[in-house]
Amino acid sequence: MGFLDKLKEWFGGGSSSTTSAAGEVAGQTTSTISAMADHSAGGNDDLPVSRVGGDIPPNEGDGGTTGVKITVNGKKTAAEVEDRLLLVDYLREERHLTGTHVGCDTSQCGACVVHVDGKAVKSCTMLAVQASGSEVTTIEGIKDGDLHPMQIAFHENHGLQCGFCTPGMIMSGIDMVNRLGPKLDESTIRAELEGNICRCTGYHNIVKSIQAGASNMKPAPKRKAAAKPKAKAKPKAKSKAKA
Ligand code: FES
Ligand code: FES
Repeated sequence: MGFLDKLKEWFGGGSSSTTSAAGEVAGQTTSTISAMADHSAGGNDDLPVSRVGGDIPPNEGDGGTTGVKITVNGKKTAAEVEDRLLLVDYLREERHLTGTHVGCDTSQCGACVVHVDGKAVKSCTMLAVQASGSEVTTIEGIKDGDLHPMQIAFHENHGLQCGFCTPGMIMSGIDMVNRLGPKLDESTIRAELEGNICRCTGYHNIVKSIQAGASNMKPAPKRKAAAKPKAKAKPKAKSKAKA
């Protein structure tokens, strides 16, 4: 008995009065397997176009493309991208900067945090076209010499286990110091990290690392504030003539 016959036998092949989901699944399974066999033999033109990640239908009618210019880690980059392309995919797929991770794609884990014009942003929540004209810094762009002080602190305080969340933790840690200064207490760091999830649950050492990294970081260069209009000089009061 062939493999396809066995599948039909296992799942009932839809022959009994119970036209069950299992029967339908069996039908789909056998037709999928047959289609795969045809495809590998190059004999089925109806199959969807194969792209990275498996057989995904082509994105006909999804919209257009737009030219973007983004400065990434100090280098000017330009590309024509799909309007729906996320910034994280621009960085990973177009620029091959794979230090920025995708942990959830739904704005929860913080593994994708980068800095856009100096502020921490979850790059899975921003389109590449929205970042056009901006300066983006990724984990690859923060080193100061060999490593950034925050990276050194994570290394020295064992602030990581599997390391998946680490780029996002470090980018959020640096942003925290830039906003709040180098003296960070534990409860502040824990509250500020609410948007970053560590699946290895190594929060204790992550907090210690950020505290240590903060005290070793140089103060962030001050952003230019908009010039205030000068106040008009008050006319001097005339001094009374002596009698
Ligand atoms: S991948 Fe962006 S928040 Fe999880
Ligand atoms: S170290 Fe593994 S997810 Fe944080």
